[in-house]
Amino acid sequence: MSDAGRGALTHAELASSGTPHRAGDPCVMVIFGASGDLTKRKLLPALSALAHDGLLPDRFAVVGFARREKSDEAFRDEMKAAVQQFSRHRPPKPEVWDRLARGLHYVAASFEEPGGYDRLRDLLGELDRKNGAGRNRVYYLATPPNAYAPIVTRLGAAGLVSEAWDGQPDGGAAPDGRGWSRIIIEKPFGRDLATARALNADIHRVFRERQVYRIDHYLGKETVQNILTFRFGNSIFEPLWNRRYVDHVQLLVGEDLGVEGRGGFYDTAGAMRDMVQNHMLQLLSLVAMEPPATFEADAVRDEKVKVLRAIRPIPASRAGDLTIRAQYVSGVLRGKKIPAYADELGVGEETPTETYAALHLEIDNWRWAGVPFYLRTGKALPKRVTEVTIQYRRPPLLLFQQAEHAAHADRDVIEPNRLTLRIQPDEGISLRVGLKPPGPRISLVPARLGFVYRDTFGVEPAEAYERLLLDCMLGDSTLFIRRDEVETAWALVTPVLEAWAAASRNGLAYYPAGSWGPKEADRFIQGDGREWANP
Ligand SMILES: NC(=O)c1ccc[n+]([C@@H]2O[C@H](COP(=O)([O-])OP(=O)(O)OC[C@H]3O[C@@H](n4cnc5c(N)ncnc54)[C@H](OP(=O)(O)O)[C@@H]3O)[C@@H](O)[C@H]2O)c1
Repeated sequence: MSDAGRGALTHAELASSGTPHRAGDPCVMVIFGASGDLTKRKLLPALSALAHDGLLPDRFAVVGFARREKSDEAFRDEMKAAVQQFSRHRPPKPEVWDRLARGLHYVAASFEEPGGYDRLRDLLGELDRKNGAGRNRVYYLATPPNAYAPIVTRLGAAGLVSEAWDGQPDGGAAPDGRGWSRIIIEKPFGRDLATARALNADIHRVFRERQVYRIDHYLGKETVQNILTFRFGNSIFEPLWNRRYVDHVQLLVGEDLGVEGRGGFYDTAGAMRDMVQNHMLQLLSLVAMEPPATFEADAVRDEKVKVLRAIRPIPASRAGDLTIRAQYVSGVLRGKKIPAYADELGVGEETPTETYAALHLEIDNWRWAGVPFYLRTGKALPKRVTEVTIQYRRPPLLLFQQAEHAAHADRDVIEPNRLTLRIQPDEGISLRVGLKPPGPRISLVPARLGFVYRDTFGVEPAEAYERLLLDCMLGDSTLFIRRDEVETAWALVTPVLEAWAAASRNGLAYYPAGSWGPKEADRFIQGDGREWANP
């Protein structure tokens, strides 16, 4: 640790010209699981991008904590390679990287070994003395989920958590020099309601809720935040955002890959746990929530949890009517043959795990009563896509009905307006409207009004982890999941998971890789007189 004191970063040194600054207090970020994939692919690249933009605190250091033996130097070399491969600003400017790298340290220990936490405490003390990190800590749990509770307990036992001090929202320091402690917890957060509650209870023995930052990286995406600005920063959409005008809403998260060697992990999870319980219910809450009174963390999260609570529960007895689950079999995806999920390495024989899920949800509140929300997600679909489609009611068909019949003898309807919020890729928003094509006849053809993020702003959106790490350092938990949100989401999906587990492979549908899902899912929505909005 001889060079612990050389890790200080200053704004002046890191500022890139014209970048607005909003960096927080000096602090040390301790990453548990620092030799893992997430640290390499997301966390260090995000920190490097923040450093590049002058958004890291003046005095900042990172301590990696994981089992594998390695020196500080080896850790820096590995992180440099990771940043060169994955950061938005790559390769990093040498002066930016060198300063960030001098603040990187590593503690090799197993999570179970109390001696590791003693060494961590010594190193943090040294960084405080030499770096002036102000005893402020961000602990990041980038570890297997079964390590979350043991690490939290040991952090508490080692006296590494500043008691109840969570810092000011504006990043102000604790008055008595104790510093603040915050903890970021990765997904998955539990695997059902009971395990999520138990994990919350373990965390709350050591941290107060205001110190806890449960991450859902979807909320860090610019286009997800844009849902709120689009809705509440414009006056023309909100009046149409309700049961009077909206016929139904669809949320789609498609992945154009199979499990690709991660079958062992995925087989214990499935689409409902991996996508629906977290990302999709978060998206739904932003689309369906009422306007918050302010844009403060608790005001926003109060509204999100209110709408989650208003979703009509799906009892196990109705899981068969209101949900579809399916698994992909071999097929051709982007020109390549891919094996069936059941033949993937690490996947159990006769596995009942769903790689596709579709749900019909109803929200029992004044705004949304009677408007179905269809959620659909799957692996090995034709396209990697996340989008929200708000389909409006059809026009009354008075004026153009005859013309439409004449123009499309095979169709008897006018295409309804559709607002599509594209979260990724090709981030943007489009509105389908009916317009008259050139010519003497009055008829309607669908056309699109659109906004494309890249064309309008001239840049690609920042990585979600950049925003989330920055917000945590600033003490802003708006884009993190509160305890009641995570438990409410689990309360909704747990009965369905239990029903599926009890039925095992009975009721599991199949779809070829590279298709939009099973026939059963088409019939599921067609039964309501609607169609999937495939991109
Ligand atoms: N990877 C992603 O893109 C991604 C995305 C979203 C969420 N997540 C979540 O992030 C977390 C981490 O994922 P990951 O992909 O980075 O996992 P990973 O590659 O398996 O890394 C796990 C890390 O934990 C360390 N570790 C495990 N058991 C340990 C023990 N008993 N003592 C000390 N260190 C131990 C490993 O250290 P050694 O290797 O030195 O043993 C390694 O650094 C998971 O909860 C995952 O669900 C990951």
